[in-house]
Parts: sequence; C-alpha cells; structure tokens
Amino acid sequence: MARKRARVKASNVLNVLVLAAGQGTRMRSKKIKLLHNVAGRPMVSWVLDSAAALKPSRLITVVGFQADAVRDALAETDSRFVLQKDQRGTGHAALQAAGSIERGRGTTLLILNGDLPTLRASTLRKVVAGHRRTGAALTLVTTRVQDPGGYGRIVRDSRSEVERIVEHRDATREQRAIREINCGIYCADAGKLLSELKRLRPDNAQGEYYITDAVHQLIARGAKVHAICHDDADEVLGVNTRGELAHATASLYSQKAADLQKSGVTVLDGSRTWVDPRARIGRDSVLYPDVIVEGSTVIGEDCRVMPGCRLVDCRIGRGVEIKDHSVLIEAKVGAGASVGPFAHLRPGSVLDADTKVGNFVELKKTRLGRGSKASHLTYLGDSVIGTDCNIGAGTITCNYDGVHKHTTKLGRGVFIGSDSQLVAPVTVEDGAYVAAGTTVTGDVPRGSLAIGRSRQRNVLGWVAKQKKKKKK
Ligand code: UD1
Ligand code: CA
Repeated sequence: MARKRARVKASNVLNVLVLAAGQGTRMRSKKIKLLHNVAGRPMVSWVLDSAAALKPSRLITVVGFQADAVRDALAETDSRFVLQKDQRGTGHAALQAAGSIERGRGTTLLILNGDLPTLRASTLRKVVAGHRRTGAALTLVTTRVQDPGGYGRIVRDSRSEVERIVEHRDATREQRAIREINCGIYCADAGKLLSELKRLRPDNAQGEYYITDAVHQLIARGAKVHAICHDDADEVLGVNTRGELAHATASLYSQKAADLQKSGVTVLDGSRTWVDPRARIGRDSVLYPDVIVEGSTVIGEDCRVMPGCRLVDCRIGRGVEIKDHSVLIEAKVGAGASVGPFAHLRPGSVLDADTKVGNFVELKKTRLGRGSKASHLTYLGDSVIGTDCNIGAGTITCNYDGVHKHTTKLGRGVFIGSDSQLVAPVTVEDGAYVAAGTTVTGDVPRGSLAIGRSRQRNVLGWVAKQKKKKKK
C-alpha cells in the first residue's frame, strides 16, 4: 500500500517546458514571432498562462532569439528561463533545459511550442491525464486541417498507428498530401524523452535537431507513442505567418464575445467587437460593432458602448453611455455618466457619477465632480472640478507653461462661460461665474463673476462703406 502511494505521488510530478527561442522567419519581422501581439498580449504569454494553470512543479521557458525581450515579457510568470544560444532546432532547444527538469522517476514532461496562443488549459489537462492513463513513453497532439502546408505530417502505418513525423520540407509528395499534422504539444516520460533527444541527428533539409525525430526513434526502441487527434484545429494550430496571427486573434476575440453573450451581455456582432479576454463586462450592457476593449477593463451593468469606441484599462460604472468614436485610456467613469461622441479621456481622467463629457472634449489627469458637465469642444488637463459645474463650449485649461504642468481647481457649482481660458495654477471658488471669452489668470473668489474681455464697440454703417471702397 505504502509503495503504491509512493508511486502515485512520483507520477504526479509535472514539468512544463515552453520552446520560445526560435525567430519565426515566416513572419518576416524584425521582432521575434512569439512577441507579436495576439488579443492584446504577446503570443507566448497565452501559452505560459495555459501552462501555469496546470500548476506544474516546474515551468521552464527556453529563450534564445531576442532572449531579453522574451524574458521581460514573461517577467510576471513563475517561469524559470534557459538559454538556447544558437537556434539549432526544437530538439536542441528542449535539450538545453535538461538540467532544469526534475530528475525523479515518473516525472511527466509537457513540452509546448511557444506559438500556440489559442491553446486551452483544459485541453492540456486532458492530454496529461490521457498520457498518464495509457502509460505511453510519449503522447503527442495532432489535428486534421484542409491545408497542412508548412506543418509536420503524421505518418501512420497500415494499422494506422503513428510511425513518425515528417517535416514539410523533408516530406515526399505522398506525405505532403497527409492532412493530419503535428501541433507541437508533447507529453512524455521526462527521463525517456531526454535520453532520446540526446540521440537526435540533424540529418534533414534544415540541418536542425528536430524534437519530432524522437517519435520514430522511440518507436524503433519498442516504446509506445500515443497520438491524440484534437477536433478543434483552430485551438491547436501554431502561428507561423501574419495570416495565421490574424486568424488566432479573431479566434480568441470571438471566443470572448461568445462567453460574454452567454453571461448576459449583448454583443451585437461578435466578429467585429474585440474584447480582451481579461476584461469584464456586466449584464445587460450592449456593445455595438467596432468596439475595442483592451487590457483589464471593467464595465458595469446596463452600459451602452457605441460603434468605434476604444477602451484601454478603464473602470466603467453601471448605466454609463459611451457614444460613438470615443477613446478612453486608463480612465474611471462613474455610474450614469455620459461620454462622447468623439470624446478623449486620457490617463488619470476620473468622471464621477452623473457627469457628462460631450463631443470633442479631451480630459487628462482631471477629476470631474458629480453632476458636472463639459459638453462641447473642451480641454481639461491637470484639473480638479467640483460637483455640479458647467464648463462652457471651447473652454481650455492652460496647464503647461512650457516647462511645468500646473493645476486648475474649480469649486462646487462653478459656471465657466464659453471660450474661456483658465491659466493654471488657478482656482475658481464655489459658485463663481466666469464670463464667456474670459482669460482667467487669477483666482476667482466664491460667488463672484470674473470677466476679462475688451468692451465691444459698434461702428455704424461700416460694411456698406467698405463695399463702396472696393468697387472703386
Ligand atoms: C514545428 C514542428 C512541426 C509542427 C509545428 C507546429 C519541429 C521540427 N517541427 O515546426 O512538426 O507541425 O511545429 O506548429 O519541431 N524553437 C526554439 N528553438 C529553435 C527552433 C524553434 O526554441 O531552435 C521554438 C520556436 O520559438 C517555436 C517552436 O520552437 O515556439 C516551434 O518552432 P517553429 O519554427 O515554429 O517550428 P515549425 O517549423 O513550425
Ligand atoms: Ca522552424
């Protein structure tokens, strides 16, 4: 009994290895393939997330090409890093981590290509469980596709058992017709696979050490290799080209849209609304087409976000209306507020409940108190605005003197007439009024009127006189 328990425990050890050292030449990019953005994050981050969800005792990432950038992008994960100095193939990459993988017998090693952004943790769990059940030396994931071009093909024998994986470039014409491909997801007995990888030879079209060659080597040694054919090809297809990048992006976003719809959010066109999978949206909110919600934005219940809006890392309360083509970045919007159309809330904008920010209004590091309104054509920067203020059309805070930024303060119930400039630092106290067209350069005491514009003079008959002059 005690022996049995000990065995169960040993076989529960899981290490996950992510291969992230290759350049990814088919992207034709200066930047490593794995740092290209998919649904708001570097492609490889998604893989690390799925891997981490399995709670492996060790999570290891092999880095090489642009190693520092990849390490930086994954700094917040629990991964340790191993360097593959020269990129000599996937088998070579995996071998570099040999020293970091747990030695105990029965350790399961899950190896993942880093270019699988749509791969789900639930699928990985099934793969690991399946692998442990069958007791195979190696379990690999395959899928069937219409166009297998570029991928490694799964060659099966007459009994339809896996025989080997042939890379596209090394494949014969007949082999290229095979539609079952290798996904780059391998689950293996760590010890057995590592010793097999040491025997790899780079005798192939690319002169690389292929992890995939371990398959026929193991079989030749009489070991069992098991293949799991995954139905949902979109989930397990590696991203190699910009076209596949777009496909993976669309797939993650439409999945999120479907999840939102299930949870009670109206997404009118799931193919044209991009919500970051990390964002949260409350029930009965409505998202129109061409809305983009990025980062860990939170939107409350009963909101309406109209076409063409982009929200990045925002907190939106309930019952907020965000009208067409507004851009909100790191902004907080209180319940019942109305924003847009064509509003721009920059970082540090805080709109309290029941406020209104209308068309062509820009806010930066500005708090708008409850019930206050800036309805048209206004710039408010570095400002603190009290409750129930009315900011007239064309009001501008002059917050920058060329060297420093200064603050504008408005008390409660302040009225700023249209086309006024507030030259900061300046304070307008509770209940004060600023007449239209005023340049406010000094503080305005509570309850008083500031008016600073030249007196109007009417020159009678002036127009007719001008016209007469022109005719001569
Ligand atoms: C690989 C598989 C192929 C499979 C396909 C699935 C091999 C030999 N072939 O091909 O059978 O169908 O994935 O997408 O494995 N990497 C390194 N170091 C290297 C080379 C690659 O870390 O020296 C990493 C890459 O960063 C990437 C992964 O390994 O995350 C796969 O590399 P990639 O070049 O995309 O492999 P494919 O040629 O697509
Ligand atoms: Ca390659």
